[in-house]
Amino acid sequence: MLRASVQKSLRQTYKLSTRFSSSVAAQYFPEEPISPQLVTSSIPGPKSQAYNDELGNVFDNRATYFVVDYVKSLGNYISDADGNKLLDVYCQIASIPLGYNNPALIEAAKSDDMLYALIDRPALACFPSTNYAQILQEGILAAAPPSMTKVWTALSGSDANETAYKAAFMYQHAHKRGSLDFTSEELSSVMNNEAPGASDMVILSFDRGFHGRLFGSLSTTRSKAIHKLDIPAFPWPKAPFPSLKYPLQDFIKENHDEEIGCLQEFERIIVEDYEPHKIAAIIVEPVQSEGGDNHASSFFFQGLRDITLKHDILMIVDEVQTGVAASGKFWAHEHWNLTTPPDMVTFSKKFQAAGFYFSNPELQPNQPYRQFNTWCGDPSKAIIARSIYQEITKHNLVEKTAQVGDYLYDGLKQIINKYPGKVLNLRGEKYGTFIAWDCYDAEVRNNILLECRKRGVNIGACGDVAIRLRPTLTFEAKHADILLQVLEDSFKAV
Ligand SMILES: Cc1ncc(COP(=O)(O)O)c(C=O)c1O
Repeated sequence: MLRASVQKSLRQTYKLSTRFSSSVAAQYFPEEPISPQLVTSSIPGPKSQAYNDELGNVFDNRATYFVVDYVKSLGNYISDADGNKLLDVYCQIASIPLGYNNPALIEAAKSDDMLYALIDRPALACFPSTNYAQILQEGILAAAPPSMTKVWTALSGSDANETAYKAAFMYQHAHKRGSLDFTSEELSSVMNNEAPGASDMVILSFDRGFHGRLFGSLSTTRSKAIHKLDIPAFPWPKAPFPSLKYPLQDFIKENHDEEIGCLQEFERIIVEDYEPHKIAAIIVEPVQSEGGDNHASSFFFQGLRDITLKHDILMIVDEVQTGVAASGKFWAHEHWNLTTPPDMVTFSKKFQAAGFYFSNPELQPNQPYRQFNTWCGDPSKAIIARSIYQEITKHNLVEKTAQVGDYLYDGLKQIINKYPGKVLNLRGEKYGTFIAWDCYDAEVRNNILLECRKRGVNIGACGDVAIRLRPTLTFEAKHADILLQVLEDSFKAV
């Protein structure tokens, strides 16, 4: 637990500014703990262990960090079964937007809209509810990225990406076919999983990218072998993603050359390895999150966009992890100022609902039932997404996240500079709280995570050696102060 004197000195060190004075977290969570509260000597404690053992009899529990008491979790603090309260900057793998038990979401959960959405779950494409258009307009679509006017809802991040892939394939084949109808050969060959009915087009993804774990999305995932082993995969291409050197200002030329090299190789693959129109779409994350929080510059993404336009390839931006305000913009790709927007933007995680945005009506297939499943999304999640959007807007949480991110980044820069052998490559400047750094090796990384947990902070890893921050949008300077102190103590301890 942090001593008051430590907090005071930290505030002095980082000159906590008065611009953080209006605390949205305090409005939402007047009872939020003021610091981590530890009641067992280790986490998981005995109750967590016992619950997890029971679970293990019926469910694979080997990835459990600790068992959670969601009733007692509040705001930025997650409570475990033993009553430990940890400051949570991992947040259910980057998917808690407004803090645990946010009153606005509780209100939405108790609404009549929610009641009927839950107990009379519609097959949305066949029997949509009278209010589905309104729920979308007031929430998911009100939050749409610039120039996007339509959405197709899905069930998870992987499903969002896969429905976007299907839209891309059907769009590209429709263009190739022109006004003609499906041929009898297409109709019969597809039933044998063969061309020409089954597509021989591909989706191109990037080295170290992560786009999910269903069959199609897993074929585009390139972050870790263990995710892919033993699972059949489509023979789809990958292109290199830049490996930038830090601090950025010391490697301007090297990094620019690196990005140019990646763009050249990307275009070479398109031109030399594939016939025209064989690559239906590319998919790219604004920050490769699971793959290690790898950033690239706006120049790189603008280059990708230009090349896709030149070769009639669709561009899908995967904002499953970067979306919904954490980057200091509502959508991270807004940082790029693209001259032409992407064709599709996928979302899930912090929005709770999932799906993809688009604007070109031709991305809707020529017939119903081609892009389809039983539920096609979930209105209960769309109702929650509406409240999330409304709360973000009402409390200016995009701007506030950008501000607290700057504060956190500055604090981290000072600490990380003190431990150069252990922690390095701080990244995410001017990128909200979407901040990460590398550790000397995986062992140091894992020890730092354990030291943080011992001190009451729940924090996550990504890639081979990185630690990533994924706090809520109600994470403020007071939380950042605690996090910084715990990080510094943990760096020191390993
Ligand atoms: C960028 C990105 N895309 C897709 C996914 C897959 O989402 P889900 O696990 O909900 O299927 C993830 C999950 O971490 C992700 O980070």
